[in-house]
Amino acid sequence: MRQIIGTCILSILCLACNFSKKEKDMANSVSNNSETQFQNSALERSMMRGEKIYKNFCMSCHGSNGKGMSKAFPPLANSDYLMNQQKASIRAIKYGQSGEITVNGKIYNSVMSPLGLKDKEVADVMNYINNSWGNSNDRLITEEEVSRIEQ
Ligand code: HEC
Repeated sequence: MRQIIGTCILSILCLACNFSKKEKDMANSVSNNSETQFQNSALERSMMRGEKIYKNFCMSCHGSNGKGMSKAFPPLANSDYLMNQQKASIRAIKYGQSGEITVNGKIYNSVMSPLGLKDKEVADVMNYINNSWGNSNDRLITEEEVSRIEQ
């Protein structure tokens, strides 16, 4: 009888041990989640502001699907220029862009006038186009980064 009680107590102890470990794990994963959620939401909030700016200032030339238009307006969706030349892309949006550039192997030689956006708006629209139409870039572009880009 003693032995049975002993095993019972032991197994209850074990269960309790396991349980508290599980709880700790759960607590850890919850706090990890909320950290990433916080980061995501800064990017997501910026993208939501950027979407409005895109519709007002960019869509007429680059299209609602970001694919560009005819030979004159280069694509932003899947654009190697946008993906690989983030600084130059910010500069283009901030100060305008003219002269020859190559996007996905095609040469464009046209003019994008400066759009008169504030640095924060440039950051927001960058975050939007970086993460739309299949584009993906989880690095948050900040107003501060845009302010450091010179003409
Ligand atoms: C009046 C038409 C027009 C508008 C409006 C316009 N763009 Fe452009 N954009 C162009 C043209 C034309 C080029 C290529 C310029 C060249 O040939 O040097 C370009 C180039 C670019 C590039 C670099 C090339 C690429 O395709 O990756 C980016 C990034 C860009 N535009 C983003 C934007 C964003 C963001 C907006 C809105 C805030 C915007 N553009 C508004 C016409 C426009």
